[in-house]
Amino acid sequence: MSRFDEVQARSLSDPEGFWGEAAQGLHWDKPWDRVLDDSNPPLYRWFPGGVLNTCYNALDRHADGGRGEQAALIYDSPVTDTIRSYSYRELRDLVARFAGAMAARGVGKGDRVIVYMPMIPEAAIAMLACARLGAIHSVVFGGFAASELATRIDDAKPKMIVSASCGIEPGRVVAYKPLLDKAIELAGHKVETCIVKQRPMARAEMTAGRDHDWEEAAAAAEPHDCVPVLATDPLYILYTSGTTGQPKGIVRDNGGHAVALHWSMKNIYDVEPGEAYWAASDVGWVVGHSYIVYAPLLHGNTSIMYEGKPVGTPDPGAFWRVISQHGVSTMFTAPTAFRAIRQQDPEGAFIGNYDLSKFRTLFLAGERCDPDTLHWAEEKLQVPVIDHWWQTETGWAIAANCLGIEKLPVKAGSPTRAAPGWNVQVLDNEGRPVGPGDIGAIVVKLPMPPSSLPTLWQAEDRFRQAYLTEYPGYYQTGDAGYIDEDGYIFVMSRTDDIINVAGHRLSTGAMEEVLAAHPDVAECAVVGVHDTLKGQLPVGFLVLKAGAEREDAEIVKEVVQMVRNQIGPVAAFKLATVVKRLPKTRSGKILRGTMRQIADGEDYKVPATIDDPAILEEITDSLRGIGYGAG
Ligand code: COA
Ligand code: AMP
Repeated sequence: MSRFDEVQARSLSDPEGFWGEAAQGLHWDKPWDRVLDDSNPPLYRWFPGGVLNTCYNALDRHADGGRGEQAALIYDSPVTDTIRSYSYRELRDLVARFAGAMAARGVGKGDRVIVYMPMIPEAAIAMLACARLGAIHSVVFGGFAASELATRIDDAKPKMIVSASCGIEPGRVVAYKPLLDKAIELAGHKVETCIVKQRPMARAEMTAGRDHDWEEAAAAAEPHDCVPVLATDPLYILYTSGTTGQPKGIVRDNGGHAVALHWSMKNIYDVEPGEAYWAASDVGWVVGHSYIVYAPLLHGNTSIMYEGKPVGTPDPGAFWRVISQHGVSTMFTAPTAFRAIRQQDPEGAFIGNYDLSKFRTLFLAGERCDPDTLHWAEEKLQVPVIDHWWQTETGWAIAANCLGIEKLPVKAGSPTRAAPGWNVQVLDNEGRPVGPGDIGAIVVKLPMPPSSLPTLWQAEDRFRQAYLTEYPGYYQTGDAGYIDEDGYIFVMSRTDDIINVAGHRLSTGAMEEVLAAHPDVAECAVVGVHDTLKGQLPVGFLVLKAGAEREDAEIVKEVVQMVRNQIGPVAAFKLATVVKRLPKTRSGKILRGTMRQIADGEDYKVPATIDDPAILEEITDSLRGIGYGAG
């Protein structure tokens, strides 16, 4: 038995022993009563009765324990030409003070706080300040539109929103404050207090009585101590795309999350405390929560917060510059970032301009890693490139090559094997296990390990329905794929209507809801088609109402703008085409899969259940008109 096999087997045969030991790496104000409460399946809780504070473990423990002067966070922002390093002591003090400012405005344990911010240190400070108070943060990605923010305000019902005057995208300054004001206006829940970080590139208009300036609020505040919370109390809610316009509020608890993330730093990423670790993502996504903010700090690493892009800030050497300048040992990003770099620097010429001697490993996740991109990165960087698979729901990797335990051979196209704690299986439509190499629904046998979602925010029925009902005794990942004879998992596609655009998870159902609201649209469908840079791109098909007299192009332009306004630029919805009818089965189900196959130029079988096969020709012609499909 290999070392990895041993660790994996023990994690499943003795989960309480396994995670109980892992939990010793943290500071507990009171030990747990039990490691795992399995008295109420299919719901499970980790470390019930345990009391701790996540911020204490991430900051104070190191600030007062020998890492006070070590850099905790390095903010590297090519878009503002700024580099600033914060030691553990400095970051702790800033967080304590900001927690004081929040507490002075009524935020306490269990209250929700929405954080709507660009990639600036204040975003991490706000998140950690919430953790310090036992308040529950909900970070909303800056690329979402006001109505998406409003939906989250209505679901989370925050006591406060922390925001900034603007974000910076290449070529434009994105004013956040008007979006925030609009969202507050749209939301039914009334937000009484906002704290806004003013950035010099665009200053925000403040609403008297409601909005407070970050600097003034922090300067006037008393530092606040860590508030002990139960391991099972929520640390955050992170909304992610579901199959409708109503996003799912993924809940993360304090104890299980801290234990799993702390454990993962050595065992998966193989980094030692003190090393510089860089996740090039955004705090608005789960990768940013886990591997920009929490895991590196829990483990005593230096985390890099990068406000820039892989290309264009200023060139495709940006990543190598950051790695060499801050002595990064391990980097984590999405394959799409590497496709963007490769597109602009196919030979990897920029790599040679930098000293990457400290760089040991590249980790990729967020979307399927195509073998071509993997091999290019391996060849150009000459370090192991590790694909790993996870979801907002889990908070850390379900499958990975766990370098700190034992490096397994890499198989391109596979995120390797189930990580310790995860019992991953593939089932057919009837819920029966399939054989090696056979495709089916990828599921996880319950209980899942610490950090995985205990529920959806105030929606336990939806939690059970969405994840636990279809395959009783298992968590349904929503991904389809297979496991080969060596236990390697291959994640091939989603089983629902979620698409993955530049590593961002989006719901085509939500886009369809927007298109359907256009006055001239009778019916519509959105499918994700293959894109060489972003992996997938959404394409809309519109059937117009009888009597719609305006030009097709005009209507297409309007729906594109509607998606941008209502979901946000991150949806990258720029392509739509008008068709006479949509292909459907005789029972009226839209054949989205066939439309996607046509768009991708794949061979497809005309579904036996189609009501009128002639429609497929029309679809093919329309797609050709916008540059998709064969020929
Ligand atoms: N605030 C406001 N707007 C944002 C935004 C933010 N935080 N993030 C993205 N946007 C906007 C972009 O400016 C773009 O707008 P545009 O339509 O006016 O051009 C739009 O949303 C789409 O963004 P994106 O899909 O990211 O495309 P891009 O062309 O700007 O960049 C990549 C492409 C590949 C360079 C970029 O997606 C990237 O760096 N990805 C890295 C992977 C990553 O972060 N994954 C997250 C999970 S690990
Ligand atoms: P998110 O919740 O935004 O992290 O998106 C999770 C989804 O992204 C998963 O359910 C997969 O569909 C996809 N995904 C993430 N990582 C990988 C990977 N390494 N390989 C294949 N798909 C992935």
